[in-house]
Amino acid sequence: MAALRSITSLPATASRSLLRASSSATPLLRSAAAAACTQIDQRRFDSAPAYGKPTTRIPDWGYYKSDKSEDSNKVIGYFMVGTMGALSAAAAKATVQDFLVNMSASADVLAMAKVEVALNSIPEGKNVIIKWRGKPIFIRHRTSDEIAEANNVKVSSLRDPQTDEERAKKPEWLVMIGVCTHLGCVPIGEAGDYGGWFCPCHGSHYDISGRIRKGPAPLNLEIPAYDFPNEETLVIG
Ligand code: FES
Repeated sequence: MAALRSITSLPATASRSLLRASSSATPLLRSAAAAACTQIDQRRFDSAPAYGKPTTRIPDWGYYKSDKSEDSNKVIGYFMVGTMGALSAAAAKATVQDFLVNMSASADVLAMAKVEVALNSIPEGKNVIIKWRGKPIFIRHRTSDEIAEANNVKVSSLRDPQTDEERAKKPEWLVMIGVCTHLGCVPIGEAGDYGGWFCPCHGSHYDISGRIRKGPAPLNLEIPAYDFPNEETLVIG
């Protein structure tokens, strides 16, 4: 036992030398030398400056260490992370919502998208011009003679071949965008060589179905999207 006590009190290098030399010693002696080395190594890690000049200064973080329990610290950590996540999600939602609301059409633009016309206010044989999306719209309440005239045309001879049926959902109501297809003037109604519309800018003549018959315009007057929700109402757009 005296030998064992002397081994554990030796310096590290001496203990290791003894451990190497004790390969031929008794098992009890070898285990005592190994325990001494382990103890010395452990002390070295715990307090390095005690074994030579330190090359770095390790600050003491003990002042900042929480004195609360681990569970308590976890609760605070989870609460902070959860709160920040909820606030970030709310901010992102508000940003996206504001962006989408800003991009959508305003009430006045939506109101301009469609125009409703009371058809019983337009007598037979008369034209009405309304404004839709900044363009003039021609609405003509055609007579039976005008409908017959529109159908009595050899379609294949037209510059822009279209039957009257293709241009009017109801034969008595002709609805067109009132913009000349040449350079964009607004034609005059009930004028021209074909009893329809005449564009004075360069002399284009349109018939009673709005089809180009004479002059430089290349196409018939355009037909907008429209519908008749009931017998007395026309909705354009
Ligand atoms: S713009 Fe109508 S004929 Fe030229």
